[in-house]
Amino acid sequence: MKSWRPPEIKALRAVNSDKSWSWNTRFIGVPMLHNYWQYHEMGRILELNRHLNGIAEIGAWKGALSIYLGLWGIRLGIPVITFETDRQLLAPIEHILKRLSVRIYGDCFEGGRIEEFIGQRGPIWLICDGGDKAREVRTFAPVLAPGSLISAHDWLYEIFPHDVEGLGLTPYREDEWMAMNMGLATWRVV
Ligand SMILES: C[S@@+](CC[C@H](N)C(=O)[O-])C[C@H]1O[C@@H](n2cnc3c(N)ncnc32)[C@H](O)[C@@H]1O
Repeated sequence: MKSWRPPEIKALRAVNSDKSWSWNTRFIGVPMLHNYWQYHEMGRILELNRHLNGIAEIGAWKGALSIYLGLWGIRLGIPVITFETDRQLLAPIEHILKRLSVRIYGDCFEGGRIEEFIGQRGPIWLICDGGDKAREVRTFAPVLAPGSLISAHDWLYEIFPHDVEGLGLTPYREDEWMAMNMGLATWRVV
């Protein structure tokens, strides 16, 4: 019997073509509205930005990304919070988020929670993936502490360059934004 060998680089190239990085797969059985490459890129961003003191996600949906971020929070020893207006969506995994110490809040535009988090933590990473990404970035970018990062998912689908004009944000790792069918844009707050 022939022994198993790692695939040739040429074969891997086909696997790594953009289209093969599908959205709508699952992470530990939880449906994702993003793809696995995003976990790789987010991991790189966190490894390169050890000064961040917290992570806030807007728009948890069913919570796959919230679980992933919660694991990073434990690894880095920083708090993770998430916002979701339809809390029922998170019911099947609330026990996981609780064990990961991920706090869940409702509407990101109500209650001043993001401002409070920033006030307590300083530079954080804010991930905008709620119902109105442009409004989320425009509302919260100006209140983020210098050194923070802000990301928006669905780049060029739901949020566009003109939405972030005039906010004074510096693109970060721009070559990666649309790589591998990801669609996640990130800026530095200076
Ligand atoms: C695109 S989905 C999030 C996808 C999720 N992050 C993922 O990748 O699996 C957007 C979610 O944002 C929620 N949402 C919409 N407006 C919101 C708001 N103002 N505050 C918090 N969540 C909101 C919606 O209920 C929906 O579940």
